[in-house]
Amino acid sequence: MDSIDNPEKIYPSGYEPKEIHTDVNVRNQLLNEILKSSPTEFINTDLFTVMSKRRSTRKFTDRIVETVKIDKIIAAADTAPTAGNFQGFEIFYVKSPEKKQQLVEACNNQPYVHAPVVLVFCKNPSRVKFNFPEEVLKKFAIQDATLAAAYSQLAAQALGLSSIWIGMFDEQKVMKVINTDLIPSSILCIGYPKQNKFPKPRRNLQEIVHAVW
Ligand SMILES: Cc1cc2nc3c(=O)[nH]c(=O)nc-3n(C[C@H](O)[C@H](O)[C@H](O)COP(=O)(O)O)c2cc1C
Repeated sequence: MDSIDNPEKIYPSGYEPKEIHTDVNVRNQLLNEILKSSPTEFINTDLFTVMSKRRSTRKFTDRIVETVKIDKIIAAADTAPTAGNFQGFEIFYVKSPEKKQQLVEACNNQPYVHAPVVLVFCKNPSRVKFNFPEEVLKKFAIQDATLAAAYSQLAAQALGLSSIWIGMFDEQKVMKVINTDLIPSSILCIGYPKQNKFPKPRRNLQEIVHAVW
């Protein structure tokens, strides 16, 4: 991974963002260009509308996800807060059908892992340069990676896509497939849904919140 050797690099190696008319020496310029670029169709991207409509999808159409949308989904991950801004996570963008099939097997044979866009979010505690015990750094890295994936998931929804978050996998098998020694925290499978479903019910907010005085 180039991004480990060069902390200035935002994207994982092998991923070429479409918006390339930027000065790579200007910090965050590429990221901002991607975030600013217009959506390709009319979608209500109001944050709360996006949240209220999101529903996991396990059945995707074969429609190819546009590169501009993939760029935005990845850029969204890079806007998430991270401990000390050390960005203790990496994204592996799995592209080949063969690797996706291997990931299906590594994910307890969940067939929908073979989705149009598959992103594996891994923890990278070595990036978290705090002088804290190893356990704390690991805790930060899992939070960094999880938040990044959550931001990407919401971005996918805002772009008219749908997704499924995969947490059930054999870590070692996934690491072998994507060829890394970094431990995965989640896999985000994204595409156009075959069907738009209503969001699932939740507990009453009053049951979730425990006021502390
Ligand atoms: C930590 C975590 C792990 C998950 N793991 C899986 C998984 O391995 N396979 C799967 O099909 N869905 C998985 N999901 C998706 C949940 O089943 C789904 O988010 C939940 O049923 C709520 O539905 P919603 O996302 O439509 O609101 C996971 C979600 C989270 C947050």
